[in-house]
Amino acid sequence: MNENFVTVAYIVAAILFILSLAGLAKQESAQRGNLFGVIGMLIALVAVTTSKAVHGSGYTMLAVAIVPAVVIGATLAARVQMTAMPQLVAILHSFVGAAAVLVGIGQHLSGHVGTTVAERAVHDVEIYVGVAIGSITFSGSIVAFLKLQGLVSGKPLLLPARHMLNLAMLIATIWFGIEFVGSHSIEDGLVPLLICTGITLVLGFHLVMAIGGADMPVVVSMLNSYSGWAAAAAGFMLSNDLLIIVGALVGSSGAILSYIMCRGMNRSLWNVILGGFGTEGGSSSGSAVTGKHQEIDIAETARQLREARSVVIVPGYGMAVAHAQHSLAEMVRHLKSKGINARFAIHPVAGRLPGHMNVLLAEAGVPYDIVLEMDEINEDLPDTDIVLVIGANDIVNPSAQDDPASPIAGMPVLEVWKAGMVVVMKRSMASGYAGVQNPLFFKDNTYMLFGDAKAVSDQLLTSLRS
Ligand code: TAP
Repeated sequence: MNENFVTVAYIVAAILFILSLAGLAKQESAQRGNLFGVIGMLIALVAVTTSKAVHGSGYTMLAVAIVPAVVIGATLAARVQMTAMPQLVAILHSFVGAAAVLVGIGQHLSGHVGTTVAERAVHDVEIYVGVAIGSITFSGSIVAFLKLQGLVSGKPLLLPARHMLNLAMLIATIWFGIEFVGSHSIEDGLVPLLICTGITLVLGFHLVMAIGGADMPVVVSMLNSYSGWAAAAAGFMLSNDLLIIVGALVGSSGAILSYIMCRGMNRSLWNVILGGFGTEGGSSSGSAVTGKHQEIDIAETARQLREARSVVIVPGYGMAVAHAQHSLAEMVRHLKSKGINARFAIHPVAGRLPGHMNVLLAEAGVPYDIVLEMDEINEDLPDTDIVLVIGANDIVNPSAQDDPASPIAGMPVLEVWKAGMVVVMKRSMASGYAGVQNPLFFKDNTYMLFGDAKAVSDQLLTSLRS
């Protein structure tokens, strides 16, 4: 293909990738966003394979790599369970990291070093940074995959001098970087480059081993960002503008997602970046919560719901494990058919994955316009007659606002206690992910409806219909 066409194809693909990200930001446009991404990637692949960069035996090598990769990728994506998505994403990030390392070493061995000293130095820095980020991404993602898959313990590995160890590895990486850029031959440069690869592999392993299994979703999104920067670095090495743009898009969007998740969970982003830095401070479980809780049964809950004008349902992790979304979708349809304003309220970190609740509710056919984000619904809660909390706990915990000693102090929460009545559906008085007690359960307007979220939702639906 003419190089001008390749350039135009790259620009079109880059625009499609930007539109894809914009589409993915909203539930209503997420499918369209995905489609833009797929078309952009197809255009990019065609442009690369038909450009001057590929010729002769290059086509055979591309076919040998791409055909099995497409088959394996499509099979894995078709088979993966929603709950296993973080593992799949983690292992895919490891491939991006490995690719950046191999491209960097390959570029160094091919000896394309530019004509001036400055060009050579810039090219060497590109290679070195790409290899370092790539190998941290590779080993970190492998550890994240193993933890999420349950193949290694989810417990954080907290070595005594781990921060000093990380610092030492960082200093050594910079030191060998100076050696690499100052080297005068391919052989001289190869040694510091390979040592850097080894050190950063250990660094990535160690950083992610220090993070607890339950915090892995944030780590995966952080590694997503790293994989983007590794791809951008590979783009610089290969002088491929599209790869630089795509890498920067993935790198920055991954960083923004990590920031949003950390804010939603009241975690420090630096904790995640620096591998559990400061985790030793988080042992407090907040002020003790005392009091008596009140219980309610199915028949009384159904009676209250029939008399309500507005109902808000807050789903959480328990709804996901119990697979209660279909019963709830049916319940909301029933309530709406009776003229009751029934809506869902979604906390940004409800469940265990970004968008966990949104995906499950979409799967159950809940219309997007009755699924509201926390910021949209919080101001309506004082005018709501009943809030049904289904398998959620931390995201409706008032101690996040009232108790500065609580480990979740400062985390934004759904202010359900401001509604006329709150019914909490869960199996026991046990705490949630953060391991803290929830004073909501002891409030005068809160009633506990004990049982499995699916079983209780089914019974409630039957009772409402009778
Ligand atoms: P949690 O605070 O973890 O509470 C879930 C509750 O569901 C538990 O208290 C549990 O109580 C109940 N439950 C479990 N199985 C159930 C079942 N079969 N039927 C009914 N109830 C069941 O969940 P949440 O309110 O969704 O908050 C999410 C938490 O996860 C936050 O702390 C967040 O920071 C953290 N987190 C989120 C993410 C993302 S990205 N979403 C990632 C990592 C961590 P019982 O045992 O008494 O039933």
